[in-house]
Amino acid sequence: MTEAHAPVKLVVLISGRGSNLRAILDAIDAGELSAVVSAVISNRAEAPGLVYARERAIDTLALDARDYPDREAYDQALQGMVDLFHPGLVVLAGFMRILTPGFVRHYAGRLINIHPSLLPEFRGLNTHQRAIEAGADEHGASVHFVTEELDGGPVIAQVHVPVLVEDSPESLAQRVLEQEHHLYVKVIQWIAEGRVTLEDDGPHFDGKPLKTPKQLEAK
Ligand code: GAR
Repeated sequence: MTEAHAPVKLVVLISGRGSNLRAILDAIDAGELSAVVSAVISNRAEAPGLVYARERAIDTLALDARDYPDREAYDQALQGMVDLFHPGLVVLAGFMRILTPGFVRHYAGRLINIHPSLLPEFRGLNTHQRAIEAGADEHGASVHFVTEELDGGPVIAQVHVPVLVEDSPESLAQRVLEQEHHLYVKVIQWIAEGRVTLEDDGPHFDGKPLKTPKQLEAK
């Protein structure tokens, strides 16, 4: 980790468990990630990840979609809340909502998502079950800049996880999740160091176009 860069300010959006959020906070504590989590925001007030963030004395906010007339109004309110914290990077960590084009454009180049598949394969839900049903011998996770397309957007890095004959969706999900945690921390650190950026022609790595996603070794 280079010390020359100021810690990047993160706002993390979650919907549930928040294990990726925990991994980010653990990496910050361990000095592996030059970042500070300014706020955690959820669309579900009961998200366990919010409880954990509060225990860590991090600002938390919950925004219930039922309180807003439509998706545009919800995302405008969400954007207003996120912007209160002036984040350098907005991190989707299991935030299970489709975002409006206006929201995505507002954070262009500073909005990333982690998805449990080797994108572009298996966008959407139940990726582990679908990978097993498709007879895939490899599965994994991807981190990508968010664009208006669901689970689309240029992929920055991926990690591969073998699918075992005895795998259930749950066992595969567990092994992928462990790798997600390393992958997300790594990519956030690259962004914090200015090594990964989104330019007009796509993502750049160390100042050069990233033609294919970085492939990380599983830990
Ligand atoms: C993670 O597996 C993440 O990749 C997935 O939700 C889970 C959240 O877990 N995200 C998506 O499927 C986005 N399309 P967590 O709350 O323990 O971090």
